[in-house]
Amino acid sequence: MNKSLYDIIEEKSKNFNILGIAGSLQDDSSSTKILKIILEKARKNGNYTNIIDLKETRLPLFNPNKPRDKTDEIEMVTKEVINADAFILATPDYHGSMSGTLKNFLDYFWKEFSGKTFGYIISSHEKGLTVLDQMRTVVRQCYGWSVPYGVSINSSQDFDIDGKISNNKLEKRIESLARDIFTYGILIRSQFLDDINNKEENTYAFQY
Ligand SMILES: Cc1cc2nc3c(=O)[nH]c(=O)nc-3n(C[C@H](O)[C@H](O)[C@H](O)COP(=O)(O)O)c2cc1C
Repeated sequence: MNKSLYDIIEEKSKNFNILGIAGSLQDDSSSTKILKIILEKARKNGNYTNIIDLKETRLPLFNPNKPRDKTDEIEMVTKEVINADAFILATPDYHGSMSGTLKNFLDYFWKEFSGKTFGYIISSHEKGLTVLDQMRTVVRQCYGWSVPYGVSINSSQDFDIDGKISNNKLEKRIESLARDIFTYGILIRSQFLDDINNKEENTYAFQY
C-alpha cells in the first residue's frame, strides 16, 4: 500500500536534510558566516544540515561535454545535492548578480533541484535584490520553489567591531529563514514525493 502524504511528512520530519551552499571565495566571507549561523539554528530546530563551501570544494567550470566527470569533488557534491531536501544558497553581490562560483555550481544540476525549497542569503552594499531575483530565476527554471524573501546583509553595517550581528531586523530574518526552510520546505518536498509515489499525472512532478 502506498504511504499517505501524512506518513511521508512524518517520516521526512525525522530526517529533513538542509544543504547550504557557500558561494564566496573570500577569506572571512560575510555571506558564508551568515549561512553557518542559519544552518546552526536549523540544526538546533532538529534538522540535519550540511554545507558545501565552494572555497574549499572547488568545482571545475561546468562543461556540458563532460557533465559528470568523476572527480572526487563532483561526486561528493552530486551525492549531497541528491540527498538534500532543501537548500540555502549564499552569495556575494557581484555586479548585481550572484558570484560566478555559485552559478557554476548551479549549472551542474537541474532535476535534482525539482520539488525542493530554496532560501537565499546575499551579501551586498545595495540589498542585492537583483541578485535574489537571479537566483530565484535559476531555481524556478529547474522547478524548485523559493522562500518568498531573502536574507540580505551589508558587511560594512550589520556587524559590530567584534564581528557580532548588530542589526535587529537581520537577526529576525535569520531566525525566520532557519524556521521557514523546514516548515514550508517539508510540505513541498513531501507533496512532491507523494505525487511521484502515486504517479499523479496532473502535476509537474509527473516528469520525474
Ligand atoms: C567583482 C565584484 C563585484 C562587486 N559588485 C558589487 C555590486 O554590484 N554591488 C554591491 O553592493 N557590492 C558589490 N561588490 C561587493 C561585494 O558584494 C561585497 O563586498 C560582499 O559583502 C562580499 O561578500 P562575501 O564577504 O560573502 O564575499 C562586488 C565585489 C566584487 C569583488
